[in-house]
Amino acid sequence: MDLRSVIREIPDFPEKGIGFKDITTLIKDKEAFKYAVDLIVQDLKDKDIDYIVGPEARGFLMGAAVAYALGVGFVPIRKKGKLPAEVVRKEYSLEYGTDILEIHKDAIEKGSNVAIVDDLMATGGTVCAVAELLEEIGANVKAMEFLIELSFLKPNEKVKKYHVNSLVKYE
Ligand code: PRP
Repeated sequence: MDLRSVIREIPDFPEKGIGFKDITTLIKDKEAFKYAVDLIVQDLKDKDIDYIVGPEARGFLMGAAVAYALGVGFVPIRKKGKLPAEVVRKEYSLEYGTDILEIHKDAIEKGSNVAIVDDLMATGGTVCAVAELLEEIGANVKAMEFLIELSFLKPNEKVKKYHVNSLVKYE
């Protein structure tokens, strides 16, 4: 199946000059959604994964589905102030300015193997912040899985030391 054909590109969103990759058209297509989740599960199934970790908000859509299909638990990463229990936080860079991501301090037992799942890797800033948070609480980051990678933004420089699997790459 050609996943690229079900990703819709919206010109000039959220601002002029940016071609936004819209995955709502992929995940509403039952065959494409299942195919994408199954490809990620296939890549993870020999990695002894204990938890799937997904960052808010689009990472929840793919991450929870992958966790269910793989038969493991799902741990959310949220933007600041949303998680109710004690958190560890990390500031990370956006195109303009910075933001903060948080994980529950007790979300993952030390030594657990985790995979990060998100819809898209652009600059790689988000996934690096997530990996740092996970390592800070003692998890082993075994893999990073994406529907889409914007390769032209060169995110791979930042994630060289990890196993990265991206289903669709825009060069
Ligand atoms: C998007 C996307 C990734 C991140 C990738 O999320 O879902 O999490 O940006 O960008 P990066 O590689 O340059 O860090 P966004 O922060 O827009 O949040 P959302 O899913 O809540 O829309």
